[in-house]
Amino acid sequence: MSLKEKIESLEAEVAAAVARTAEEVEKFRVATLGRNGSVTALFEDFKQVASEEKREFGQRMNRLKQSAQARWEELKASLDQESSSNGSTADPTRPALTEQVGSLHPITIVRQRIVDVFARIGYTVSQGPEVEDDHHNFSALNFAPDHPARDMQDTFFVDLGSDIALRTHTSSVQVRVMEGSKPPIRTISPGRVYRNEAISARAHCMFHQVEGLYVDKGVSFAELKGTLDYFAKSMFGPEVTIRMRPSYFPFTEPSAEVDMSCTICMGKGCNVCKHSGWVEIMGCGMVDPAVLTNCGIDPEVYSGFAFGMGVERVAQLIYRVPDLRLYWENDVRFLRQFSDGAFRG
Ligand code: PHE
Repeated sequence: MSLKEKIESLEAEVAAAVARTAEEVEKFRVATLGRNGSVTALFEDFKQVASEEKREFGQRMNRLKQSAQARWEELKASLDQESSSNGSTADPTRPALTEQVGSLHPITIVRQRIVDVFARIGYTVSQGPEVEDDHHNFSALNFAPDHPARDMQDTFFVDLGSDIALRTHTSSVQVRVMEGSKPPIRTISPGRVYRNEAISARAHCMFHQVEGLYVDKGVSFAELKGTLDYFAKSMFGPEVTIRMRPSYFPFTEPSAEVDMSCTICMGKGCNVCKHSGWVEIMGCGMVDPAVLTNCGIDPEVYSGFAFGMGVERVAQLIYRVPDLRLYWENDVRFLRQFSDGAFRG
């Protein structure tokens, strides 16, 4: 092979060179530029080149040497890049980076717990809209248009008409369920509600309720009390008791407020129960016959009970968060402190 041919074949070889590992890169360097490498060897042959051709060959060989050098650098660099991107030179025994796993919101955890307790005794889950009309939120529930009971639930109106507002309670879902289905009805309705309240540590303009509704033939007040007692014990432990105080709601008759023995001081008296030993957790009562009629259910055949509890109130007994506003500030340092393990029941 003439020197010219050798140069040409080496040029092609250098341009086509590939290497997948550091050893292959090194092999390429030794085979071309090393002391006994093919490019180096050419310079031996150069001695035989006729002097008038020396200039031309010399330039060409220098270029070949430079391109072999450049190719070597290139192969080395691509290998470095690959190893840093696929981690092949990383320490495989190094502990893995831990994923940041989020957590359920405390109100979500408590709401799910409440739903679970009622699901066990055959309650289905139903839902209704947060933007509600006067009929479902008030009128069908026996609130007369000018009745002062409406003042207890001052709400936010929406620019959709004078009878559209954010619902003030989940009792609106009672109406939707009774209008849309026939007894027996046994359902709970968790959801968000709104009231025009000044926001403070103890009150918010937005909070959560779980509504309960049971309508069938011969449903009694005793069953209401038994159901709520079952709920309190399942949620907080077998030593917990409830008591009922007479109250008023337009849509139940008779109506009651339900207190639970304070789980924090076990009834001895503390800040949470305002030293009474009892904490109010919900309102309840027998569905008013007028409400059944409004919803197309014959009160001569059917009776029922309903209850509505505040989820934040129940959460307070479990987590003892001193300021309600903390729930809605989206501070992850607060939110990641909650887990399902805090329940005793
Ligand atoms: N809706 C009532 C409230 O928000 C609670 C309630 C529900 C009372 C069902 C009786 C029956 O205050």
